[in-house]
Amino acid sequence: MMRRTGRLLLLLVAALVVGLLATGSFALAHSNGGDHHRSDQRQRSDGQSSDQKLRRCDQVCREKGYSAWDQQWLMMSIEGDRFEIQGGMLAQHRATTQIVRDLGARLVKDHTKSLEDAIAVAEKLGIDVPKEPSPSQQWELRAVAQFPGRAFDRWYSDLEVQDHVQDITEAQDEVDEGFNKKVKSTAEDDLPVLREHLKLAQAALASVGGNASSSSR
Ligand SMILES: [Fe+2]
Ligand SMILES: [Fe+2]
Repeated sequence: MMRRTGRLLLLLVAALVVGLLATGSFALAHSNGGDHHRSDQRQRSDGQSSDQKLRRCDQVCREKGYSAWDQQWLMMSIEGDRFEIQGGMLAQHRATTQIVRDLGARLVKDHTKSLEDAIAVAEKLGIDVPKEPSPSQQWELRAVAQFPGRAFDRWYSDLEVQDHVQDITEAQDEVDEGFNKKVKSTAEDDLPVLREHLKLAQAALASVGGNASSSSR
């Protein structure tokens, strides 16, 4: 009886740890409809109204030639590229299946290109170039790296499905509501690539036994 209780307790602890990792990282980071994990620098208490303000072209925007939203999207996009490159490199070393290693390799290749493009636009406009993924993205990478064996493949693929759903929404927002032409066309160029990545991540997740329906909200 004691042994059985002990084993149940162990399982409960393991489930809690995995549950905490899940809710603490991927689910929490991706489930809110407003601020995104990449936008650590734009956490606000007044939600939508600030978003609308960001997207308006005020006096400063007219002088600089880009809106606060253009700047924010470009910086998030650079952080996102750095996140995808680090995650993709991790997947190439850690994944146990070819499809997940291939996903990682593809993300490294495509996001290296979009990182170069985004940095060129940022430098031209005098926008700061983030040197690292956002703090919550760094946390997500550390969290996913904790999973052993095949669990890594599932969690990494799941993370990439959710991340790309959010990436597509944000790039579309820039296309629809951005002000600066160069920043908007960067987002436009990104969109088909991001959609392709979402498909690849969904295929990888399905192939390693993940539940695609729960992750592609
Ligand atoms: Fe991303
Ligand atoms: Fe991507």
